[in-house]
Parts: sequence; structure tokens; C-alpha cells
Amino acid sequence: MIDSLILEFDRALRVLAGAPRAARSSPASGVPESELDATERVHAAALMRVNHVGEVCAQALYQGQALTARDAAARSSLARAAREEEDHLAWSAARIRELGGRPSLLNPLWYAGSLAMGVAAGALGDKWNLAFLAETERQVEEHLTGHLEALPAADHRTRAVVKAMRADEAKHRDTALSLGAAEFPEPVKRAMRFAAKVMTTVAYRV
Ligand SMILES: [Fe+2]
Ligand SMILES: [Fe+2]
Repeated sequence: MIDSLILEFDRALRVLAGAPRAARSSPASGVPESELDATERVHAAALMRVNHVGEVCAQALYQGQALTARDAAARSSLARAAREEEDHLAWSAARIRELGGRPSLLNPLWYAGSLAMGVAAGALGDKWNLAFLAETERQVEEHLTGHLEALPAADHRTRAVVKAMRADEAKHRDTALSLGAAEFPEPVKRAMRFAAKVMTTVAYRV
């Protein structure tokens, strides 16, 4: 337990230091940079900051899962999803930099909040822990669809990253469901949606 805590703490520091390692190259590589005006760049960078915060939270959620999941098979599937989330973290951080933006200053706060929620969900047992993951992934997927509408039409590099992330999130949700995720009651889903709304609104600016 102590070993895994130290390992997870090390991971947390790497996430917050903005030094994630992508195993897969960014979907933006090979996509030419488009001509964006200043407003479009600022807007696209802010949207990617929101997505980056989402990925910071994903790291914390999957870490919470790693600390609490009881079933070994579930742990290994979730570890695979967590590695893909690390790619997302690296890709979105890189795209923010390219657009001239910066990650959220509140990342330690987002991280701590998500870790607490992940551990709390984990304490309820695997099926609720997985329910939390499945619902999170579903909401992230919807949210990324919204971003594809909101992003400048010409920003093909950002779009390539968002599309690839969305495809992975759908897979992660299926993984959580296939591992036996329960279904949250509607009020819980609404509360999660509200928390996500607060996070995305703040992260767009800070
Ligand atoms: Fe992700
Ligand atoms: Fe995901």
C-alpha cells in the first residue's frame, strides 16, 4: 500500500509539473498549421486549457481507481485507459503551447478534487467506482463534441487532437461498462454535470 501510494504521489507530481509522456504521437502531427487570427488562437487555446484540465482530472480519477479497485483484471484494463489519458494530457498540453496559451493555474486544485471524488467512489466498491468512470467518460465525450462545434473551423490541428481524444473516451466508457459499471441515478448525473460546468467555465478563463 505504501509503495503504491509513493508511486501515485510521483505520478501526481509529474502530472502537475506538466511533464506527461505520450506513448502515441499526437494526432496533430502531420496536420498543417492553419492561419488563425488572434481571437481564434486565444479561444482555441482556452478550449484546450479546459480539455487539459479534464485530462488532469482523468489522471486523478484513474489514480483513485488504481488505489481502490479490488479486481485485478479491472485494474489492468483501467491501467491501459489511464495510459491513453496520459497521451491526452501530453497532446493537449502541447497544443496549448503551440497556440500560445498556458495550462490552468488551478491544476493542483482540480487534481486534488478529482482524486478525492475518485477515492470516494472507490470506497463504495468497484461497481460504483466504474459507474463514476463510465459517466465521466460519457460526459467528456459529449463535451468534446461541443468543442468540435466551438473550435475555429480552420483549426485542423486542434480538431485532430480533440477527435482522437473523443474516440478514446468512448472506448474508455465501454471498458468501464464491460467491467460491470452500475448506472447512476439521474440526480447524481446532474450533480456531476453541474460540477463539470463549474470546472469548464473557470478553466476557460484561469
Ligand atoms: Fe482523456
Ligand atoms: Fe477517458
